[in-house]
Amino acid sequence: MSTSYFAGCTVLVTGASAGIGREFARQLAPVVGSMILVARRAERLEALQLELKVINPDLEVFYRALDLRNHDDLAKFCNWLEESGLAVDLLINNAGLGDRGRFIDSDWDKVNAMLRVNIEALTYLTYRILPSMRKSGCGAILNVSSVAGFAPVPTIAVYAASKAYVTSFSEALRAELRSSNISVTVLCPGPVLTEFDSVAARSGADRLTTPNVVTIPVQRVVQEALASVARDRPRLIPGIVLQMIVTLVLFVPMFLKRLIYDLQLRREGAPRTNLRPDLGAKMHSHI
Ligand SMILES: NC(=O)c1ccc[n+]([C@@H]2O[C@H](COP(=O)([O-])OP(=O)(O)OC[C@H]3O[C@@H](n4cnc5c(N)ncnc54)[C@H](OP(=O)(O)O)[C@@H]3O)[C@@H](O)[C@H]2O)c1
Repeated sequence: MSTSYFAGCTVLVTGASAGIGREFARQLAPVVGSMILVARRAERLEALQLELKVINPDLEVFYRALDLRNHDDLAKFCNWLEESGLAVDLLINNAGLGDRGRFIDSDWDKVNAMLRVNIEALTYLTYRILPSMRKSGCGAILNVSSVAGFAPVPTIAVYAASKAYVTSFSEALRAELRSSNISVTVLCPGPVLTEFDSVAARSGADRLTTPNVVTIPVQRVVQEALASVARDRPRLIPGIVLQMIVTLVLFVPMFLKRLIYDLQLRREGAPRTNLRPDLGAKMHSHI
């Protein structure tokens, strides 16, 4: 697919300092008119701005170092966007993070960051940018979710639930906007080698460092995602193997999924006990 569909557009990319977001900026740079890049690491955004200006000297690039966990800063950024007169044609809600490990052992700051960035910031940005799309009579929203959103996933419980929200919200919003000229597409990748896994990992031991059969190169994920937006597709799961796995997962009823989770637990050697095993032992001693 050529990216010509996006010719002259104004694009806002969140999470543009790394991985998938940075690749969106690189692939769109030759054709779009203006780009607004958002992430916390300003030096990365500045370097990307210079790189994009080499690809397309006519491109207007704005970057904002913004922590999407902070609602007040995000609201100020949206106010600036409105005042600047930059009407966003393509909103790419890409910023996100994960956390790998049991919820009971999690760090609240990281859990809270997932809720704020993956859910709240994505929803709020959409809420603030939609009116200008409605005014200009067209627009496209691309929300980056994950295959993890298709089922509850122990050890990434909050991340998977946050992505279930993104997928559900995107599908419902798409349906609401069908009579307008505003499209909504949700991208649900499987593993992509970016900084994502090192952010999600709690210890070096559980990192995904080597590509496997379902790992897709970031360039291909982005290429296919942009093609899906251009064709007004509702959802993209990059890679045929992953599409087949997701279809299977969706067909497996919840009671069978629970059985699989239980088997996994048993393999880890965690037997089920009484609710209060200490009291149970005392009662036995009285009998
Ligand atoms: N890689 C995968 O395997 C995979 C699979 C499925 C879905 N995804 C999804 O794809 C999206 C992009 O992930 P990625 O793989 O490109 O990961 P990445 O390389 O870690 O990039 C994440 C981006 O999000 C930004 N971000 C994180 N927290 C932020 C905050 N508080 N405020 C502002 N920006 C923040 C980061 O920028 P700063 O750190 O500079 O703020 C960075 O630019 C995420 O939504 C992720 O859930 C990834």
